[in-house]
Amino acid sequence: MAKKTILSGSTATGDLTLGNYIGAINNWTALQEEYDCLYFVADLHALTVKQDPKKLNDRCMSFFAQYLALGLDPVKNTLFLQSHVPEHAELNWILTCLTPMGYLNRMTQFKDKSEKNTKNINAGLYTYPVLMAADILLYQADVVPVGEDQKQHLELCRDIVNFYHNRYGEKTLVMPEPFIGKQGARVMSLQDPTSKMSKSDENEKSFVSIIDTPKKIQKKIKGAVTDSDTVIEFDVEKKAGLSNLLTIYSVLSGKKVDEIVNEYQGKMYGHIKADLADLVCDTLKPVQEKYADLMNNQDYLLETMNSGASKARERASKTLKAVYEDTGLINLSSRK
Ligand code: TYM
Repeated sequence: MAKKTILSGSTATGDLTLGNYIGAINNWTALQEEYDCLYFVADLHALTVKQDPKKLNDRCMSFFAQYLALGLDPVKNTLFLQSHVPEHAELNWILTCLTPMGYLNRMTQFKDKSEKNTKNINAGLYTYPVLMAADILLYQADVVPVGEDQKQHLELCRDIVNFYHNRYGEKTLVMPEPFIGKQGARVMSLQDPTSKMSKSDENEKSFVSIIDTPKKIQKKIKGAVTDSDTVIEFDVEKKAGLSNLLTIYSVLSGKKVDEIVNEYQGKMYGHIKADLADLVCDTLKPVQEKYADLMNNQDYLLETMNSGASKARERASKTLKAVYEDTGLINLSSRK
């Protein structure tokens, strides 16, 4: 039986965080063994917020190196940058023309981001989820592993597929399913455990970056906001901060939350924080070592990016050609 196709990506803004790792990339690496996987750096999506060109350029290299360092294998998977496959922007246009504005108005991320970004509410921020649909549909992805915050965008993508099927038939675009992990799908901010850990948070203390130094990691985890109680229990409503730390602990150690709660009975929150800080440092140490090696080998990174882009383009161009045919645009090669 043909392997199912998996696709996912992360936008090149801010720093990749423990939230991105636990909610998404950790699942991506697990899936690479059994599925046909494509993972990319969404650099075009990053342009929806104002970027310093040099910093964006460096960040794209860094994100790509972090994907590899976190265990994504460039031979088993197709790893690439979105802007290296122009078909994304082209399919985006076709899908934009199928998407009612009313559907985009409902997107909570647009509302949140435009509230935070009052000086730059650009059209790209608004149509962002359509580009995301193009990313997915170009590769006939069956499954899209994401964190909880992307669920609404995935639902919109499914609506767009229905619009397309109704207008042009069902033979070209595959209906994707979201895959949201049972645990860690919404890792919370270390400073405000009622909102998600976000890589573009201005408060650096609110997230752990994959490439933070051990000293910073220790400081951030030990400084995580909890509550004034002392009883160790998992309760997302009453003890959001502690529960968030327990979730991170559970995912990284492979132990069940209950097991951890039992282990720490009678101990202080500080004990959990200290052990969790060590666990995060130990988990990230080999990743950071690999990352440093990769960043010293830019030629290898560029070669790997290039071969990933060629593999991706070969597939994307086939879908785009079929879409253009469905829509009635003239295909010169079939007219000769
Ligand atoms: P991005 O870059 O915000 O996040 C990348 C992935 O990490 C997940 N994630 C989290 N999971 C758990 N807890 C958190 N605190 C947390 N923060 C982020 C996200 O859900 C996501 O899975 N628009 C996407 C990138 C994208 C994409 C796509 C994804 C562009 N095109 C096509 C899938 C398919 C984004 O900005 O993710």
